[in-house]
Amino acid sequence: METVVSGIRSTGNLHLGNYFGAIRNFLKMQNENNCYFFIADYHALTTHPKSKDLHANIKQVLAEYLACGIDPEIATVFIQSDVPEVSELYLLLNMNAYVGELERTTSFKEKIRKQPDNINAGLLTYPVLMAADIIIHRATKVPVGKDQEQHLEMTRRFARRFNMMYEVNYFPEPDAYNFGKQLVKIPGLDGTGKMGKSEGNGIFLSDTPADIRKKVMRAVTDTGPTAPGQEPSEPVKNLFTIMKVVSEPDTVKYFRGKFDTCEIRYGDMKKQLAEDIIKFTDPIRERINDILADNKYLAGVVAHGAEKARESASRTVREVREIIGYRPF
Ligand code: TRP
Repeated sequence: METVVSGIRSTGNLHLGNYFGAIRNFLKMQNENNCYFFIADYHALTTHPKSKDLHANIKQVLAEYLACGIDPEIATVFIQSDVPEVSELYLLLNMNAYVGELERTTSFKEKIRKQPDNINAGLLTYPVLMAADIIIHRATKVPVGKDQEQHLEMTRRFARRFNMMYEVNYFPEPDAYNFGKQLVKIPGLDGTGKMGKSEGNGIFLSDTPADIRKKVMRAVTDTGPTAPGQEPSEPVKNLFTIMKVVSEPDTVKYFRGKFDTCEIRYGDMKKQLAEDIIKFTDPIRERINDILADNKYLAGVVAHGAEKARESASRTVREVREIIGYRPF
């Protein structure tokens, strides 16, 4: 069995991009692999959440994981901050991570642009903590969306560097994983870019049907095709991309045909898209609410997960300390 690790930051409700970029793959993997799925609540601190919000955010994402069908009896489901061993490995890996390579990371450069008032060292070393999350379980497969490709590349580099430095073959080099297909990117409803938690362009798994209809009807389109066989503009292409993951193939074909013959009415397409999204998210939303109401169940899940995760993590940290040269007197 191969070991799989993946995490999602607890910085907001999960959206369709999280589901189709990552969680759908978690579900496919959990039966055939040794899976660790966690809530990255240390990573969440880079954006300075209020302490009164932190716990509720973690609880929400946990409930959403479970509502999607991640089975805590099969996979190890845990909260990052319940496994303090990860912070020790992070410290150790930081010694072999170079400031230059961290500064050149795309996600860091993006943060500098987006939050110039809060460029903390945690943002700079974000990829090191992420590498620690992964290699602490000596994982080989990491199901993530396309935006995480570079972080995975850095994880491999840190693992390789450790092995070279200490002349061992200890850490495997993990790969981003998406069932042999290209990593998926779900676009937002605002015409450009990916669906995000903070961009205000997303559909959340916990959105009510009324929310979803409103958001989809407001999605950016254009004035319509003017010649048969034209390439759709980016906003329209984005709607088709979302439709491809939630609707029946025949539905997509129908609207694509209408587009190609310039007969498309975006209003009709959006109505259909909204209903197909609702059909998909509504059972999940109901489960989220049920799970959130059952605190005892949630407490049991995280306690069990922390125990299993710490078992694996503490073994790695013990071995790493030995490799580095920390010895008992
Ligand atoms: N960086 C990931 C994201 O923003 C979250 C994450 C943290 C993660 N640690 C990880 C993903 C380890 C996979 C493995 O989506």
